Amino acid sequence: MSAPVPVVTVDGPSGSGKGTISRALARRCGWHLLDSGALYRLVALSGLEHRLEPDDIEGHARLARAMAVGFEASTDEERICLDGRVVTDAIRTEAVGQCASRVAAWPQVRTALLERQRAFARAPGLVADGRDMGTVVFPQAPLKIFLTASLEERARRRYNQLKQKGSDASLSALSREIAERDERDVHRAAAPLIAARDAVVIDSSGLDVAAVLAQVIELGRQRALWA
Ligand code: C5P
Repeated sequence: MSAPVPVVTVDGPSGSGKGTISRALARRCGWHLLDSGALYRLVALSGLEHRLEPDDIEGHARLARAMAVGFEASTDEERICLDGRVVTDAIRTEAVGQCASRVAAWPQVRTALLERQRAFARAPGLVADGRDMGTVVFPQAPLKIFLTASLEERARRRYNQLKQKGSDASLSALSREIAERDERDVHRAAAPLIAARDAVVIDSSGLDVAAVLAQVIELGRQRALWA
């Protein structure tokens, strides 16, 4: 039997920096990347486009099974496709994020996405970014990171990201929306946002990307995942 593909899981709340850290780590190692939040966002966007009722659980689960998704990454650009169209920016709006956190609370949708997510684990390795990567999707992962940061810091980071993209944003509204999403993600019955028992918790408040990445790389080295 061939050795299992190594997986590093990076879980945490919105704006904790997991996307940035996961992308940087995958690039450094030449590993694949799973942005599982993008999958939930794609289900939400697809539901909106198909004009599903917001509480149509089976309809959303059907879309989660049937939708054709594509992730392409070059050195400085990533492209996410839904049923043959580029939706990279369309899925990043706060409205789609809110909708994603609603559909993500339904076990039927989570089950529909489970095998899709596991299929991302291909040699030489996978960095999996999400909320339940270490607890549900890849419970055997040899390195699990749980990244946190204060609500203020997470709202400020999201605010700066949006400003950089030229979008209008209000810091207090963002802070409220992130708190609302956290509340839903932490308190839902299905795969709530929680650190796996064997996860290493890193609080990134006051740390820059390089400092967090250095910690993760050192942890991987200690576990012989890379040299
Ligand atoms: O990470 P991102 O903000 O793109 O995720 C959008 C939403 O998808 C989250 O608020 C969360 O509710 C849901 N999600 C999830 N499980 C994951 C990834 C994301 O429930 N593994």
